Amino acid sequence: MQKKELLYEGKAKKVYLTSEEDKLIQEFKDDATAFDGAKKGTISKKGEINNAISAYLFEYLENYHIPTHYFEKLSANEMLIRKLEIIPIEIVLRNVAAGSLCARYNIPEGKVMEYPILEYYLKDDELHDPMINEYHAYAFGHATPDEMKAINRIASKVNAILKSFFDRRNLVLVDFKLEFGKRIKDIYLADEISPDTCRIWDKKTHKKLDKDRFRHDMGGVDKAYRELRDRLMGD
Ligand code: TMP
Repeated sequence: MQKKELLYEGKAKKVYLTSEEDKLIQEFKDDATAFDGAKKGTISKKGEINNAISAYLFEYLENYHIPTHYFEKLSANEMLIRKLEIIPIEIVLRNVAAGSLCARYNIPEGKVMEYPILEYYLKDDELHDPMINEYHAYAFGHATPDEMKAINRIASKVNAILKSFFDRRNLVLVDFKLEFGKRIKDIYLADEISPDTCRIWDKKTHKKLDKDRFRHDMGGVDKAYRELRDRLMGD
């Protein structure tokens, strides 16, 4: 299998074609952005840490029969993935109030939700990823009701699995964002699961171990990413 030309470059990853038609290489960058690209920077070793954490979590989820785009880790900052048609919707799951939820509904940060919240946002930086509901997804032709049903089921299952995985490591999975893709009629979990796309706090101190440290200039960003990797993969 050979790495071929660049197919797509995003803010935090590059995707390459390969000599196999149905496989792509996803390369993680150290570049970090926030607020739809308005804030830019780099986080030392982020590419390899996010690749390692994503690979580890995709493998973990496959044990629970979650279909993911992941095949294998190829190098420190590259993984081999299944080529999919990406659905341009960000699925956000929330267990604890943080970020945009607090501002939108005037809820104090840290309030534990009585039931997990599932939200959809249209993936469109220029429009600042507006919140949508399932009907927008059908009307805009992004997914069918059956596909949204599959996405909801997988997203809720991922939340249950990861919540307890993090809890056992004395970490709180506050919220996270997932993306899905389809191939013929099958839905797969795609993109990444990393401190760029999750909020994760220490259970006791509520210390933030994710991209919020970069978003809000809290300092200790590189160290927090390394600490999270070591606490997740250290055993
Ligand atoms: P929010 O509170 O800013 O809406 O973010 C909810 C979760 O989604 C949080 O874990 C961060 C993640 N996220 C992304 O992965 N990409 C994004 O573009 C945004 C806005 C949030």
